[in-house]
Amino acid sequence: MLSLKTISNIGFKTTTILMQGFRNSSTSSGEVVKGVIAKKIPSFVKLQKDKMYSWCSCGLSKKQPFCDGSHKNDPQKLQPLRFKVEKDGIVLLCRCKQTNNRPYCDLTHIKTFIPEGLRKMLNIKF
Ligand code: FES
Repeated sequence: MLSLKTISNIGFKTTTILMQGFRNSSTSSGEVVKGVIAKKIPSFVKLQKDKMYSWCSCGLSKKQPFCDGSHKNDPQKLQPLRFKVEKDGIVLLCRCKQTNNRPYCDLTHIKTFIPEGLRKMLNIKF
């Protein structure tokens, strides 16, 4: 059986995060400002080596999990996270925008949106 932890780790070691555009999504204390919830579940996305991608951090894009320029209307002015992967592959990108491992899903959506009682009933463990 494939655990949720294993699924969430797909592609984690193959990415180079480019920090430009990430500066504006942090407070002066270094705390990351998170966008609005676009979807309560992540999406599997096939990415190509060395291609530049822009992950939507504001949650307003209609092309989730990628940026469509909607952040220009975001009162928080959150910029997209630009990144590349080092090899072709399928990764799990966050769409709830609450992950602590941008742009990847870290299963925060499960902890946030599935009540603890239901997680216990379904035997979901972290
Ligand atoms: S979709 Fe899983 S942490 Fe955001």
